[in-house]
Order: sequence, then structure tokens, then C-alpha cells
Amino acid sequence: MQNSEVFILAIESSCDDTAAAVLHNDKVLSNVVANQLIHNQYGGVVPELASRAHQQNIVPVIDAALRKANVRKEQLTAIAFTQGPGLMGSLLVGSSFAKSLSLALNIPLIAVNHMQAHILAHFIEEGNEKPTFPFLALTISGGHTQIVKVNDFFDMEIIGETTDDAVGEAFDKSAKILGLPYPGGPLVDKYAKLGNPKAFAFTKPKVPGLDFSFSGLKTAILYFVQKKKLENPNFVEENLNDICASIQHTIIEILMDKLKLAVATTGIKQVAIGGGVSANSGIRNTLAEAEKKYGWKTFIPKFEYTTDNAAMIGIVGYQKFLLQNFETSSVVSKARIQF
Ligand code: KG4
Ligand code: ZN
Repeated sequence: MQNSEVFILAIESSCDDTAAAVLHNDKVLSNVVANQLIHNQYGGVVPELASRAHQQNIVPVIDAALRKANVRKEQLTAIAFTQGPGLMGSLLVGSSFAKSLSLALNIPLIAVNHMQAHILAHFIEEGNEKPTFPFLALTISGGHTQIVKVNDFFDMEIIGETTDDAVGEAFDKSAKILGLPYPGGPLVDKYAKLGNPKAFAFTKPKVPGLDFSFSGLKTAILYFVQKKKLENPNFVEENLNDICASIQHTIIEILMDKLKLAVATTGIKQVAIGGGVSANSGIRNTLAEAEKKYGWKTFIPKFEYTTDNAAMIGIVGYQKFLLQNFETSSVVSKARIQF
């Protein structure tokens, strides 16, 4: 179905960011995110605090998204929300709000899979080149690490995934070992820019096929740091840039080895990345270089569409709107959800 005047309000509340966006068809009019700083002092996301903070943030965030878009709620065509995966208490805040608003305005309600949204964010219209089907997507976030064969908007196959920690956890847990605050991923990225990626060598895990494992790397880093600290208590402070660069280099090599294998086994040379960890500058550079090095066509999302945001929920909402794929208010949130 084509409709040139579709205004979608999208709500994302799966983890610790409360986000709302307004889209006009496939274009983003506003994209507002309220980060919950409360978790930093606990070294990770505290689910109960996250859901309480969502309750406080959701009205002002949606209000800001509508105002920035210059769209009144009466003009909205549909409401899209994250159904899962995520923290149940957090998801419920977004879904309850979306359901109430769709009932009050008498407009369709659209449920969105958060991991599909990280992939389909590439279809937000910004004059950029879009992937064509089929393509491969590497989704890397705090909760997921997957290689997905994307056959169509809603026909996706996971062909590889982590058997333990997600790559975002590998960044965050390594950062914690180095004494850095949560979330450590962006800080490892920042220090890595100043360090030597070959300064220290960490063994890469041997996992068959397209699957990943990151828990061994975290343990290797822990033992390495403990040993070095015995020799020199200031080892981490004195070598922070080199340690971060070496950790990041190892993680990128693990990801690229599997991506190369995925391209070789599927014959698909279009590779997109998505999810919070795709904000990493090392990963972005390496993937961009892969175009020349391996003849791939690569797709790297705009920075604001990497970490959790509602614009990506809105673009999936728009695609589902075109298919008239709507839910009733009895739709349930799901902590785990498959494609
Ligand atoms: O997609 P996301 O915002 O939330 C989840 O759905 O999990 O991803 C958050 C993850 C965190 O682990 C965070 O440390 C990581 O993305 N991250 C980064 C960077 N920016 C965010 N990791 C490495 N380098 C970055 N620049
Ligand atoms: Zn995410």
C-alpha cells in the first residue's frame, strides 16, 4: 500500500535509553534519546531502575519528539513500539504507552523487533545508497552478536551468533577490568585511537562455523592484567591506550574473520553493520576498507542510528504500515523474540 502522508510516532524502551522519533514516510523528522545516567554508578544496567527511569522520561521524550518534528499528535497515522527483545520492565513502559495512545487516537499499533530495527535502520531515507536484497548484516550490540542473511525486509535468517557474551559485553567487561566506568565500549574506542593495536597479543577463540565466543577473551584480558599488575601496579594507567587498542584490534579481527567466512559461504558481498557497537570507529574504518580490500559493498549507519534510538523503530513501523501489519492492544512484550 502506498500512502504519501504517513506520520509515525516510534517509541523505543528496550534497555536503558528512552527514545521517541517521528517519521514522515521513510524520512526522520525528529529523533530524541534520553540516556539513563543512573546506571553508570552501578557498573551496568539495573533493570528495576531502568523501568522507573523510562516512566519518568517517556512523556517528556515523546513530547520533545513531536515538537521537534512540528507534528501534532492528531496528525499521526500510526504508533510503532519495540516489542522485544529487551528487559521486560523496560519494554512494558513503551508498549503500555503506545497501546494507550493508539487507542486514544484511534490509529494503528505496530510492534517492532528491536534487532530487525538495527538492521533496517539502513533504509531510513537520507539520500544514502541502500543495500539491495539479499545482504549480510552484522548486528553487534550489548545483548547480541549475530550475522544475519537478510532476504527481504521481514525475511531474515540468523546464520551465526555468539555462544556466550555479546561483543558489546566484551567491550564493557574488558573496560571494567581496566577500571573504566560503564558503558566502557565508547571509552575503549576513545583510548584505542591513541594506542598501538599490536602492542599486546590476545588469543582469538576457535569457534566452528559462523558462531562467535567472547567470554574467553574477557578471561584472557583479566589474567593478563592481573599478571602485569603484579610486575608493575601502575601497568594499566601507564599502558591504557595500548591495552585498549590491542583489545579492540582483537575484537575486530574476530568479527572480520567470521564476516569473511560468511561472504565466502553465501557468496553475498553486500555487508551492513548495525547495533551499538557499530558506533566503534575501528570497526567502521575496517569495514570501509573492506570495500577496496575484498571488493565488498559495505553499509555503515549514521552515528545516531547505531546505539539504541527510535528512528530505527520508526522505519520498521513504516515498512509494516505499508504491509498493513497491525496489532491489537492484546499484543504482548517479549524479552526474547526470534525474527
Ligand atoms: O545497541 P545498543 O545501544 O544497546 C543494546 O541493544 O544492547 O548497544 C550498546 C552497546 C554497549 O555495550 C556499548 O558499550 C557499545 O554498544 N558501544 C560501543 C561503542 N559505542 C557503544 N562499543 C565499542 N565502541 C563504541 N564506540
Ligand atoms: Zn540495541
